[in-house]
Amino acid sequence: MKNRFSRIIRPDDGRCVMLAVDHGYFLGPTEKLEVPQRTIKPLLPYADSLMLTRGVLRTSVNPSTNVPIVLRVSGATSIVGEDLSKETITTSIEDAIKLNVSCLAISIFVGSKYEHQTLANLATLVDNGEKYGIPVLAVTAVGKEMVRDARYLGLACRVAGELGAHLVKTYYCEHFEKVVEGSPVPVIIAGGKKLEKDVDVLELTFNAIREGAAGVDMGRNIWQSEYPVAMIKAVRSIVHENFSVKEAYDLFVKEKNNERKSTTITR
Ligand code: 5RP
Repeated sequence: MKNRFSRIIRPDDGRCVMLAVDHGYFLGPTEKLEVPQRTIKPLLPYADSLMLTRGVLRTSVNPSTNVPIVLRVSGATSIVGEDLSKETITTSIEDAIKLNVSCLAISIFVGSKYEHQTLANLATLVDNGEKYGIPVLAVTAVGKEMVRDARYLGLACRVAGELGAHLVKTYYCEHFEKVVEGSPVPVIIAGGKKLEKDVDVLELTFNAIREGAAGVDMGRNIWQSEYPVAMIKAVRSIVHENFSVKEAYDLFVKEKNNERKSTTITR
């Protein structure tokens, strides 16, 4: 368990840059993730770990790649289905072991129609993970109707930790430090919908880290950026090198120019 967990949260600084590319499991071919392999490949060298489903892992990641895998194992619903919270566990522990994953990820929907079912899923997954030493990441607060404030997110994260999750993912909010304080396990943040300005992503990351986040599990704000490699490098500089927003933005601008040049040459 410790060995796998240390592949997710770096033991030297207690932080992580997890690249999320699991969106298709309920959103379908999301913009800029239509062909996962194309999105993932250039970003892999800068990701500490990769969060995805087994379908995308099998088809879009070279098995010789040594990036730690965070396998999403909940789903069976879609954006046009009856209710987003009606999830089940979609992958057996045996398949997760066979795929040599470092962590399992599951959504919980606190306060929604299928709250009980998703929390029971989490408890079952933790039991299975504990049997084989595989940590579990609980993903909180995905869905449209949730009020993403410290009270709600704090509740969701605490419930996840109490049920045995080893790591929780949530959204940044005002008084985020309260969410972190109330969680018995490390908290990482999702990026959410693409933000308008590049610097906003860096500010979000910086504020979350300053207020106690152990890192990011970020998707759209990286790969929907016009300059995804520059963006992941800049986010990484905040998480692992304690860069300020200004330092990270300067790095982004420098890397963006390199990225622009290399795409022009490739074309
Ligand atoms: C969806 C997820 C995503 O991985 C998560 O929301 C992170 O991605 P983004 O930064 O695009 O929000 O778990 O259920």
